[in-house]
Amino acid sequence: MTKIDVLLGLQWGDEGKGKIVDVLTPDYDVVARFQGGPNAGHTLEFNGTKHVLHIIPSGIFHREKINLIGNGVLIEPRIFRQEIEALTEKGVDATQNLFISKKAHLILPSHRMMDAANEQAKGNAKIGSTLKGIGPAYTDKIARNGLRVGDTLAADFRERYDALKRLHLQQAKALGFDVNAFRVDGMTLDEYERVWMESIETLRRFRYVNSEYFVNQCLRDNKKVLAEGAQAMMLDIDFGTYPFVTSSNTITAGVCTGLGVAPSTIGRVMGITKAYCTRVGAGPFPTQLDDETGRMLCEQGHEYGATTGRPRRCGWIDLPALRYACMINGVTDLFVTKPDVMNNFETVCMCTGYEIDGQLTDEIPYEYNTADIRPQFTPYKGWMCSLEGTASYNALPKELLDYLKAIEQQTGVNIRAVSISPDRKDVLFKQ
Ligand code: IMP
Repeated sequence: MTKIDVLLGLQWGDEGKGKIVDVLTPDYDVVARFQGGPNAGHTLEFNGTKHVLHIIPSGIFHREKINLIGNGVLIEPRIFRQEIEALTEKGVDATQNLFISKKAHLILPSHRMMDAANEQAKGNAKIGSTLKGIGPAYTDKIARNGLRVGDTLAADFRERYDALKRLHLQQAKALGFDVNAFRVDGMTLDEYERVWMESIETLRRFRYVNSEYFVNQCLRDNKKVLAEGAQAMMLDIDFGTYPFVTSSNTITAGVCTGLGVAPSTIGRVMGITKAYCTRVGAGPFPTQLDDETGRMLCEQGHEYGATTGRPRRCGWIDLPALRYACMINGVTDLFVTKPDVMNNFETVCMCTGYEIDGQLTDEIPYEYNTADIRPQFTPYKGWMCSLEGTASYNALPKELLDYLKAIEQQTGVNIRAVSISPDRKDVLFKQ
């Protein structure tokens, strides 16, 4: 029996997970998503073309690999259909190698409306949700009201859909939300519902499975399985910067509940971090830079949301947060992405601790959202050169190698590879 390897983001998302999964996929037989939904935007770039995936696992471009959407994932049928259509245009036929858990929950059009209603009701305390319906759909899952993929085969699917929609309309009204003014992609709720129902037909063309049996059988057959995380550690519902988080367990433990595998089946845990740090949406971000350096990171790193297009907040790498992420997830291998964004920086900094009320700490405090956190920065000499064409890890500039070594020392975890451009060929593995 093989173990299941895990790959996840260690910051606030957008660390470049899709690309690393894509690079690692040749080593695996199965790529499985275990949480999140269309709030994710996993960008893969190869042969000069950019591909963004939201719900579909990043192994889909490898025809012979099995791709599984686990029970912990949320599926929005219309977004799913759009993704399938985009793949078809690129000559990728996902019907053969994509399997979907019957237990994965559905995002209804009215979940998307409730996302907007909840955000509006929060006023200044908005989460900055991607408005894909994530929070409301997971809420219904926990409240035992949700509809699942397997339910699309039931004779009474439409009645159950209508009952849930009615509940959402009541909830929206109670929040004072103007349902008639609500639009998704320019469509009213009823118009969107028609497109959504048609998309259910696309979903039904795929193979629904009892994914917990499916994935455990894969492990028994000695297939190598990679669990692909979405969002990231610091957006985890329990250990992230609550309430500015997403609504699922994005951490290693989420693999067990989101796929139906035992903790003892977890193998390597590969954590992705940018060489700096970004965050999209609201919430604390102690190392954020509101100055020219922050703007340079944003521009040179093309830091605009893959799902929403929003500019991301940028800052220096945060080691207390990274150490926390390594602890919670049991990270065994680090992948560092995008150091090339800092090629022109004379100095690069690392936050190694926080000062809070005059006390130094390297712990993430409970009061993360409200405390006056002063990050303690250690400066490193920049490498001031292009990394283009660097042939191997050891051929990286000495200053960058020093910077990477410091990350290893600070986290106690070895770096397995560094990614120096968006292209899949530019991931340099440490020998
Ligand atoms: P939601 O998951 O759409 O409700 O969004 C909750 C918070 O998580 C917001 O701050 C989003 O910006 C953030 N978020 C959700 N998904 C992602 C992602 O894939 N990358 C980065 N941030 C995300």
